[in-house]
Amino acid sequence: MIPLAVPNLTGNERKYLNECIDTTFVSSVGEFVNRLEADAAAATGAASAVATSAGTTALHAALMVLGVRPGDYVIVPSFTFIASANSIRHAGAYPWLFDIDPTSWCIDLDQVERELKRACFTLNGTTYHRATGNRVSALMPVYTLGNLPNMDQARRICDEWHLALIADAACAIGATFQGRALAELADLSAISLNGNKTITAGGGGLVVGTNEELLAEVHHLTTTARVWPDYDFDRVGYNYRLTNLQAAVAVAQLERLDEFVARKRAVRKVYDEAFAGIGGVSTFPVPSWCESSCWFSGIVVEDAAKTQSVVAKLNERGIGAKAFWKPVHLQAPYASCERANELSVSEGLWDKVITLPCSTGITDEEVVEVIAVTKEVLSA
Ligand SMILES: Cc1ncc(COP(=O)(O)O)c(C=O)c1O
Repeated sequence: MIPLAVPNLTGNERKYLNECIDTTFVSSVGEFVNRLEADAAAATGAASAVATSAGTTALHAALMVLGVRPGDYVIVPSFTFIASANSIRHAGAYPWLFDIDPTSWCIDLDQVERELKRACFTLNGTTYHRATGNRVSALMPVYTLGNLPNMDQARRICDEWHLALIADAACAIGATFQGRALAELADLSAISLNGNKTITAGGGGLVVGTNEELLAEVHHLTTTARVWPDYDFDRVGYNYRLTNLQAAVAVAQLERLDEFVARKRAVRKVYDEAFAGIGGVSTFPVPSWCESSCWFSGIVVEDAAKTQSVVAKLNERGIGAKAFWKPVHLQAPYASCERANELSVSEGLWDKVITLPCSTGITDEEVVEVIAVTKEVLSA
């Protein structure tokens, strides 16, 4: 089987893990946690970074620190992995679901502007949803596939409507927006270090940004809100820290960030060229306004009725293809969420997407094989 997206652990991972065991620093305090935070800050243009137990907990902590409170609405695209919505509910807030732009698969910011004007009002620097009275406190763009929406527009919307800007950058390490670093683009950004991500810790996350005070708050809240050196705690905190063992893996991974992102982009280019012009199929979007990290690659079939059988046939032939995200408004826990009137792009897309093998360690021969088998299956 040529797998969909498996970790590439051929660097210093083993050596650094052994160092953790030799020194007995296996828990959430240790040299590798500090190194990861410093290296991740440098890699994303952040003032500093906070390592967390997952991308989901990174999002949850960032939402809380940015002032999202129980009962608030947080604007988020419906076409995302469910963790974006879950993190909002973990903060006691509710996702307000929007459609995506077909040229990036990121949130449709024009629709967000229209809906804010139509459905909201501002009073004393706070935005409220007219029909429900809920406060609207944040905008959470999701960097789908490592693509970014127009983050200048996102910032302008947030300034105009007094919203916090928190990026779900789970899949986007390595991406930039018009040459600007990832951490500069939102008030706080959350990255995932899950096993299927470009850089992994096995499991884990990072919060990055340019405001030291906010990041100190994230660090405090995710470290049980402890006031050192004694057992004093100044609020209800969270045990969301990454362990030194996981950080050791992530440090070794980050040493190869440029190489890994270059490989992701190269694989995307080969697939895009190979599947261009094939009837009934299109490729994944790469918007011109950002430098995508090309986290996942694949194809979109025109006929949704074919997706499952194409995936099954590819799997039978040893190609680790897979379907992709089902929108949040179609998921049981979120079926009654507030949503924009039109979610037609998300609804017309999600069950046509097929992701194809794109591990950073995939060989050129394997890519050729994936293309040949996929073309055969599509034409059968
Ligand atoms: C868009 C998106 N948001 C959030 C997450 C959550 O990250 P984690 O699995 O590290 O909690 C993921 C990935 O898993 C994701 O793809």
